[in-house]
Amino acid sequence: MGSRPGRWAHYCATLCFVALGSSCLGLGSAQGAAPQVHPQRWPRQQSPLARNTDLEHRIDDLLARMTPAQKVGQLIQADIGSVKPVDVRKLALGSVLNGGNSSPRDDKLVAPGEWLALADRFYDASVAAGVGVPLLWGTDAVHGHNNIPGATIFPHNIGLGATRDAELIRRIGEITALEVRVTGLDWAFSPTVAVARDARWGRTYESYSENPQLVREYAAAMVTGLQGPPGTPQFLDAAHVLATPKHFLGDGGTRGKDQGDNISSETALRDLDAPGYLAALGAGAQTVMASYSSWHGAKMHGNRALLTGVLKGRFGFDGLVIGDWNGHAQLPGCTAVSCAAAVNAGLDMLMAPDGWRDLQANLLAQVASGEIPASRLDDAVRRVLRVKLRAGLDHEGRPSSRPFAGHYNLLGSAAHRAVARQAVRESLVLLKNRSHLLPLAPHSRVLVTGDGADSIAKQSGGWTINWQGTEPNQDFPHAETIYAGIARCVRAAHGSVELGSNGEFHTRPDVAIVVFGENPYAEYEGDVPTLEYSRDDKRDLAMLRRLRAADVPVVAVFLSGRPLWVNAELNAADSFVAAWLPGPEGGGIADVLFRGPDGAVRYDFRGKLPMSWPRSPKPPAVDDVAGEAPLFAFGYGLTYADDGYLAKLPER
Ligand code: BGC
Ligand code: BGC
Repeated sequence: MGSRPGRWAHYCATLCFVALGSSCLGLGSAQGAAPQVHPQRWPRQQSPLARNTDLEHRIDDLLARMTPAQKVGQLIQADIGSVKPVDVRKLALGSVLNGGNSSPRDDKLVAPGEWLALADRFYDASVAAGVGVPLLWGTDAVHGHNNIPGATIFPHNIGLGATRDAELIRRIGEITALEVRVTGLDWAFSPTVAVARDARWGRTYESYSENPQLVREYAAAMVTGLQGPPGTPQFLDAAHVLATPKHFLGDGGTRGKDQGDNISSETALRDLDAPGYLAALGAGAQTVMASYSSWHGAKMHGNRALLTGVLKGRFGFDGLVIGDWNGHAQLPGCTAVSCAAAVNAGLDMLMAPDGWRDLQANLLAQVASGEIPASRLDDAVRRVLRVKLRAGLDHEGRPSSRPFAGHYNLLGSAAHRAVARQAVRESLVLLKNRSHLLPLAPHSRVLVTGDGADSIAKQSGGWTINWQGTEPNQDFPHAETIYAGIARCVRAAHGSVELGSNGEFHTRPDVAIVVFGENPYAEYEGDVPTLEYSRDDKRDLAMLRRLRAADVPVVAVFLSGRPLWVNAELNAADSFVAAWLPGPEGGGIADVLFRGPDGAVRYDFRGKLPMSWPRSPKPPAVDDVAGEAPLFAFGYGLTYADDGYLAKLPER
């Protein structure tokens, strides 16, 4: 299989760009000129929201009364870790966010009431700024309202991809929106509609699938759930929030590198990366986040042809484009506090977590000098105000006065968590089941082991309470670990269960359930050089083998944000379940693994691979780059009726 024509095309493309003097090598200063984009080759689409002349006239009036400083302020989003309400008032900032590590009083464990109280203070300050429309608060609600202890947390997107259940995705969006509203926030930075096609990428789990059709279907469902259906009274009402398909465009095709370079063709970008956006915009998505990644060496934050020509032109997007966290700083000639180029390329709001103050001054100067044309400034402000007015900010009142605000019983309510648990059940993919070991009888002696067995952090992954997802079990009030869920189920049937560290046991078990896998990570922290699971530490494998050698039947429950090369672990287990990052509703695992007390199967496996499973540690096929056939193809997944036999796999 050695050298393939596709791989040569890949190398050639890279070399040609280097030869042309572009900076594919990431040498910093010179931004490579991205290949020409042909907007006319991209699908034409219209916003599902009819042009509202009243609303546009109101924006005209507002614009006419705003000072340049107020206009510029609307283009800036600051992080609550550094901005205070007084700054919002003074600079008329259009928005704040809480980054993955930011929270009121800089305490990740504050009560939800503190979020709502802070939302009120920011709201009041933005009203006092005199723009006439208050600010928006955005948050990374990417698998539930995941910054709030006790809120419902769902499986990460890759697991949802396995469920093939778009209605479930819509429902998850609806619940997430409602819980965000309880804390007084307005805007979710989700869904990620990246089409991840190289699992070495640390953000693979934020992607629903490598399959653009599945991403397309889910993008529409999630946006509809978060925002409500356009053209109905529910659209952006008090139970819904703004959605943000991200990261535009091509982040899933960066060949395993976060913030990396996508060197696919324009056609691949259009046919693989864009469908999720078309569907999200078709469902009325009001904001889009630009990608940190590059296309052929040129950062997306500066790509006017794609941001303005394609997204706002061809796709008919009339909402606002938000930058990513200091993403503008990566443009040639830009810094975190100065970047006319990003605005001129089409960003309507810059995410400037800590540089907002100087950014405001610099934007003002760039507007005064004409470096940012007045027409571009007005268009950006118009888009920001349009989104705010559509969201009802002008008449909704203070965050705490809105219908669901302060209804803390909705955060992690039993009904909401039941949906998360359903999602866990549906997301599990069975890859091997020798001699029909599964489903298990609950009236047995069960050993549960592996370092994922009793760890909410490990089963939840990144973007869970904090950015990298490292919070201890006690910070999850409603959660159930996988072990706890199994224990509950087995004890109810008068079986016995032992939690053993590292495969050890006191009582000889009838079966061992080994829960192991990746430790939590987010963004670039999760990039890996090859697809081999745990390259430098084979203790999990040794544990599986020890149990097998002791004649204990082994069920492997593999926690991971991506498909990984686990041939040796597959060989060492009798049954193997890909559980992805299921989140705090660990009981969903036992629901599927165990029969009911009456002996009947309660829930069969129904998860199907959202991404093909690798046959080797080598990077997978991406776009025009050929690769070897997967071990298990996209769509693979056994049920209890299947013969789960798997012949021994090569381990090198
Ligand atoms: C991520 C975005 C996220 C933002 C705000 C960035 O680093 O790329 O996905 O929305 O931070 O936390
Ligand atoms: C923030 C995240 C952000 C990341 C960007 C973190 O410190 O908490 O929200 O996405 O930095 O690198």
